[in-house]
Amino acid sequence: MLSINDKDLGTPARDSAALVTLEVDGRAVAVPAGTSVIRAAALAEVAIPKLCATDSLEPFGSCRLCLVEIEGRKGFPASCTTPVESGMKIRTQSEQLAKLRRNVMELYMSDHPIDPFECKAGGKCELHEMANAVGLVHVRYGDGGRNHLDSPIDDSNPYFAFDPSRCIVCSRCVRACDETQGTFALTIEGRGFDSQMVAGQHEHYIDSECVSCGACVQACPTDALMEKSLLERGRADRAIVTTCGYCGVGCSFKAELRGGEVVRMVPNKDGMPNHGHSCVKGRFAWGYATHPDRVKHPLIRRRITDPWQEVSWDEALNFAASEFKRVQRKYGRGAVGGITSSRCTNEEAYLVQKLVRAAFGNNNVDTCARVCHSPTGYGLKTAFGTPAGTQDFDSVNQADVIMVIGANPTEGHPVFASIMKRRLRNGAHLIVADPREIELVRLPHVAADYFLQMTPGTNVAIFNALAHVVVAEGLVDEEFVAARCDAREFKSWREFAAEARNSPEAVEKITGVSADKIRGAARLFAKGPNSAIYYGLGVTEHSQGSTAVLAMANLAMATGMLGRAGVGVNPLRGQNNVQGSNDVGSFPHELTGYRHVSDPLMRADFEKVWHVPIDPEPGLRIPNMFDAALDGSFLGLYIEGEDIAQSDPNSQHVAAALSAMEIVVVHDIFMNETAKYAHVLLPGSSFLEKNGTFTNAERRISRVRKVMPALAGKEDWEVTCALSNALGYPMNYNHPSEIMDEIAQLTPTFSGVSYEKLDRLGSIQWPCNDAAPEGTAVMHVGEFVRGKGKFLRTEYVATDERTTARFPLILTTGRILTQYNVGTQTRRTMNVAWHPEDVLEIHPHDAEQRGVREGEWVEVSSRAGAIALRAVVTERVTPGVVYTTFHHPETGANVVTTENSDWATNCPEYKVTAVQVMPTGRRPERLPATQVSPSVR
Ligand code: SF4
Ligand code: SF4
Ligand code: SF4
Ligand code: FES
Repeated sequence: MLSINDKDLGTPARDSAALVTLEVDGRAVAVPAGTSVIRAAALAEVAIPKLCATDSLEPFGSCRLCLVEIEGRKGFPASCTTPVESGMKIRTQSEQLAKLRRNVMELYMSDHPIDPFECKAGGKCELHEMANAVGLVHVRYGDGGRNHLDSPIDDSNPYFAFDPSRCIVCSRCVRACDETQGTFALTIEGRGFDSQMVAGQHEHYIDSECVSCGACVQACPTDALMEKSLLERGRADRAIVTTCGYCGVGCSFKAELRGGEVVRMVPNKDGMPNHGHSCVKGRFAWGYATHPDRVKHPLIRRRITDPWQEVSWDEALNFAASEFKRVQRKYGRGAVGGITSSRCTNEEAYLVQKLVRAAFGNNNVDTCARVCHSPTGYGLKTAFGTPAGTQDFDSVNQADVIMVIGANPTEGHPVFASIMKRRLRNGAHLIVADPREIELVRLPHVAADYFLQMTPGTNVAIFNALAHVVVAEGLVDEEFVAARCDAREFKSWREFAAEARNSPEAVEKITGVSADKIRGAARLFAKGPNSAIYYGLGVTEHSQGSTAVLAMANLAMATGMLGRAGVGVNPLRGQNNVQGSNDVGSFPHELTGYRHVSDPLMRADFEKVWHVPIDPEPGLRIPNMFDAALDGSFLGLYIEGEDIAQSDPNSQHVAAALSAMEIVVVHDIFMNETAKYAHVLLPGSSFLEKNGTFTNAERRISRVRKVMPALAGKEDWEVTCALSNALGYPMNYNHPSEIMDEIAQLTPTFSGVSYEKLDRLGSIQWPCNDAAPEGTAVMHVGEFVRGKGKFLRTEYVATDERTTARFPLILTTGRILTQYNVGTQTRRTMNVAWHPEDVLEIHPHDAEQRGVREGEWVEVSSRAGAIALRAVVTERVTPGVVYTTFHHPETGANVVTTENSDWATNCPEYKVTAVQVMPTGRRPERLPATQVSPSVR
């Protein structure tokens, strides 16, 4: 069902430069060739009745309501399936047309409630609108035609229900699931009056392949498929456009409201990242925002063993400020710091790093990107000059070859995955490189040309082998390299890539991937013509994460796959604003726009605006903060919107460090694991409660708009301002737009960004400045940001994390669609229906050797600790590799991960942990690290 205020043009736009001119009811209109008559009419402001057509789906031509007359043609063609022709004269109204349409509607309504009050949408569904539009007031067939009324309602899905008695079998839902989502979960079965829409193999929705994206609900023109929230709360009376608070795709939504209450979230048709599509999280899992667990009052305590005390905002902020000042007086200016949040807005992250630099007077600020994409920042900045993805999402529509490595888009970035799947169904080739068989490898109508199932931790070796083939077989794009890259560095790299130890045959022994597959994948990628790389944490969270990013950059440059649509090196960012929090100065060595703090001219600009001197020395990274806490030199931390006790590696070490601190201030929407070590808990605000901006994985800055009042009375940016004021450094803004103005003033890549422009354009991809006043979709066109592209030799160095007789398996980790990160939000929604607990995937061979059976509890032990999980026996993983997710705190996945990290950025090596797996028969208590012998650590 359409969102309020959405206009539906009937069929999708056609992308043709050739214009066709025709007349609709005497009105001249010019449209791109291939456009349907119904769309041309809608563009000429002539509405033709329709039911089975909608502008997000290809026309189907089943309802026969959109009939028109075309001068010189016999009969009454369906306007949705008829393409325009030059000089066509269309008539949309005549007595005969009116009669035909009324007859069609009469048949539909004979099996449907005609009384709008019987309609669950209150008669505000398209079916009733069309009945009105064709002037149907009376159905001649009585109730005899209502032969589906007894069909049972399927309300198995937690978020929406299917009432077959209201279904007109228009197939819009089926096409939405096929075309938009790419899941193919629905079909129309039977013929005529017996036809019906069914999910899966005649299953309940919840048991079918359905992934609850909501596209079918969105497409349904009746009240057959409806959100339960809409049924419970009634239709909205207004809508506010905002941005999803979950993942780095950054989908645009209309938050529909009735009074002050959110009724539903509807994906925004005009949203550039998502074009009206969504996933189960953004579409449905927003209920956590009003969950009873929300922290609504500031809390303080002197010791972490004391009970919490509810206090006023002033008391909490003054206590926090006085404690930070006490710690600094006692242990020095550098004894405190802050962590910014990639879930918060750009403006909020900017203020936290400003507070650290201006109020604390040091650079001890870091962000969760440390544990995910910091190697992306390092690698892409080194190679190209900008630490961000090179393309916009839509660029994938022009890719001929798509390489997905260390990412699982259908689970982690589902809406982008749907766009990618559509491109793959339309003929693009696919290379997947991953230790685990991700869903993309085999999907309806999609199969990977090459699946390189490598041993975890061998990405660099794989990239070197791909490069070897490119160099050895003369597949280098010599022209591109000569024009765009540093010649001396390229020569050195070419020699390195050509070495025999990088040949597919040599690398096969390291990675377990056959030389033939590596050769085939390299040739396919190099041939293109447009080949694009998409990657995720499976590349970055390794001891060689930065090397792997550099190796991808090398491969893309060598094959000329940069600087135009359809190519590029693209990180799929995890959290909603991980790109943005990095952009606005969250790292200890960089101010906004990734400029090093040691640059005196740049510091002078900030000092002029901030009115304080800025420390020229980089501050502590998160792992260094923990080490310094245990050394007794870092004793105060302000953490906004991150649960580091759960999300950082080696939980015991983190817990010990936090326990050693004298003032820990947690600023969050829930009492999280980290709050167990906190002295002050400041209530946070969810994305629905504040104004600001998020920046997604394609560098797109989008507005976050306040939909409801902040539950605890303050938006996060206001809290940071108040804390800064309490610390004695004045921070006074009236609105986040003023904070963005300050970012724009101080950051060359943001200088053209303003709320006024964001409201006008919808969203902006940085760089946005005088050179690119409306932003930049594709980067490095013509020239790299750093000038010449930089090739570096990327030596493969095996991780120190080795399997041994005692820990013979490698544990690697990933995500699942319905849960998000450590589950703080999604576990407080009905999404738990799909993923109530994390499980351990183990290959049948390894399971049999250990006597592990499906569904039974196993103990997973590593050099760092031990956890318990239920086993799932599957061939998705290879022998020797086990896999789990990390969404539930009781799993404690980070209890077993080690302290190994990326050589350049300290990004933890989450993806490779040597473990043993043994059956336990029942769920054991979590085993403390001390139970593992120190001799094997
Ligand atoms: S919710 Fe999405 S996946 Fe499920 S049936 Fe509808 S369109 Fe298909
Ligand atoms: S459920 Fe809705 S969209 Fe699907 S066939 Fe029935 S009426 Fe059409
Ligand atoms: S794909 Fe990401 S941004 Fe889009 S709705 Fe899902 S969680 Fe939100
Ligand atoms: S809208 Fe054209 S046939 Fe249904």
